[in-house]
Amino acid sequence: MPVREVESAHRQESFPRDESVRSADFRGSLLIELDSVTDRLDLEKIFGRNAPLHVDLGCGDGSFLCALAERMPEKNFLGIERLLGRIRSAARKAATVGNVRLLRMESSYAVRYLLPAGSVETFYLLFPNPWPKRRHWRRRIVTGEFLRAISQALAENGRFLIATDHFDYFEKIEEIARANPDFTMASPRAGDLPLTKFQQQFRAQGAVIHWLELRKVSPVR
Ligand SMILES: C[S@@+](CC[C@H](N)C(=O)[O-])C[C@H]1O[C@@H](n2cnc3c(N)ncnc32)[C@H](O)[C@@H]1O
Repeated sequence: MPVREVESAHRQESFPRDESVRSADFRGSLLIELDSVTDRLDLEKIFGRNAPLHVDLGCGDGSFLCALAERMPEKNFLGIERLLGRIRSAARKAATVGNVRLLRMESSYAVRYLLPAGSVETFYLLFPNPWPKRRHWRRRIVTGEFLRAISQALAENGRFLIATDHFDYFEKIEEIARANPDFTMASPRAGDLPLTKFQQQFRAQGAVIHWLELRKVSPVR
């Protein structure tokens, strides 16, 4: 299995259970190997501790994920990405960061079926594929159903941060978010975050980046 292949390059013995260990001490297998595709993730086992969880959906080469994880060693970071080559790059970067784990998976499936309800403090969806042609719009990840799944997985007051260089997609996302009463919308202070790889490319091209922050307001259902 491809995930195993990558994982074996980074395999280490086991996850320490002691919450007092420093993040550098619990470097374990970075790539999550699923025993079942229907059971929810056991986050304590995966990270070796309980800590607020941040999830980067479509984490690409992991630059943003690992830079943010280094800034916040007290939080757990999960990168989800479907492309093997990018997961490999992310795994190489994460090897020197203690609080990152990776999952090679379709983001929408992972959000809906694998993340426990109320388990996520912050989701990031940074530069999702815009699928600009109308006939491809059905491939876009942000739909009403996807937002409902995000809401389920978010803790109370949890955040969902979205960035895109594609204004039409941005407007569509805003429209979908407005229709969901679980969220309030705000414009985030994106300058506080590390740059993603695609963000660097878009910046170099002079593209305008659109940011949206959704904050969960309703109680966990
Ligand atoms: C434009 S890139 C952005 C990568 C990264 N977030 C960045 O800003 O540098 C979109 C990434 O999302 C991944 N991706 C797209 N749809 C996905 C899905 N449904 N599940 C998991 N990954 C997905 C792609 O493989 C790609 O790596």
